[in-house]
Amino acid sequence: MPTVLDGKALAQRVKTKLAADVKEFIQKTGVTPKLCVLRAGDDPASEVYVRNKAKACGEVGITSEVVHKPETNEQEVLAIVKRWDDDASVSGILVQLPLPKGIDERKVLELIDPNKDVDAFHPHHAGLLSQGRATLTPCTPRGCLALIHEAQKDITGLHAVVIGRSNIVGKPVAQLLLNANATVTVCHSKTKDLPAIVKQADIIVAAIGKAGFVKGDWVKPGAIVIDVGINRGQDGKLTGDVDYAAAAERAKAITPVPGGVGPMTIAMLLENTLTCARIQKHQ
Ligand code: GUN
Repeated sequence: MPTVLDGKALAQRVKTKLAADVKEFIQKTGVTPKLCVLRAGDDPASEVYVRNKAKACGEVGITSEVVHKPETNEQEVLAIVKRWDDDASVSGILVQLPLPKGIDERKVLELIDPNKDVDAFHPHHAGLLSQGRATLTPCTPRGCLALIHEAQKDITGLHAVVIGRSNIVGKPVAQLLLNANATVTVCHSKTKDLPAIVKQADIIVAAIGKAGFVKGDWVKPGAIVIDVGINRGQDGKLTGDVDYAAAAERAKAITPVPGGVGPMTIAMLLENTLTCARIQKHQ
């Protein structure tokens, strides 16, 4: 049986350490880190994610402010971001995605001050990451790497296959794996003979958004399997992008869904918020 990579437990360890770091930061600077979160529109999944993020802030001593605009427009969203950019008491800004139709996501994300960009989605951070000198890195990819390192400390020379090429997960996780000296292949919806490529992987990172997409017989015996998918079935149950039961028979280590990557994304968000607070002037 494989090692089940318990993201919930690892996230708890990260949060315990972080709570001490936040306390020390407050004592030294007199500033309490503050995360501002904008939820635009009425995406039901976003409601849960945003609530969990705000709750987690409270657990480590970070102040949070959530603004929910069920009906809004681009002008209003840009104005809120600009206000937070200009507010010295705000350490970090997060605009929950997806944004409602008609709002230009790129325009909004690029307005966030890179020093307050807890998601690290700004091209400034993508550029630094691709040069191997990132200051802030996206939360989910960082969570994936932390879980991989739980399974294996040194991944030098291993073949990592990333399935999915989004700006949020696929591309940045590929960069992080490359920076950790893995040999990286990025697959996507147009990839020819995807199973044949996945079968070569020592590390699989599945970020497709399709329940059970990765089959058990695609998993090389002894591989590390990281499942980023969060798919809600008609029965309301969450499943990942990997056929877990079949993959677990062959993997060396595997993340469950829920309880794998998800909790780590939130823990990394909290770390990024403290990092942002550290790089603010906060005057
Ligand atoms: N929607 C899904 N994942 C994310 C994330 O990591 N950050 C933001 N802002 N929105 C998301």
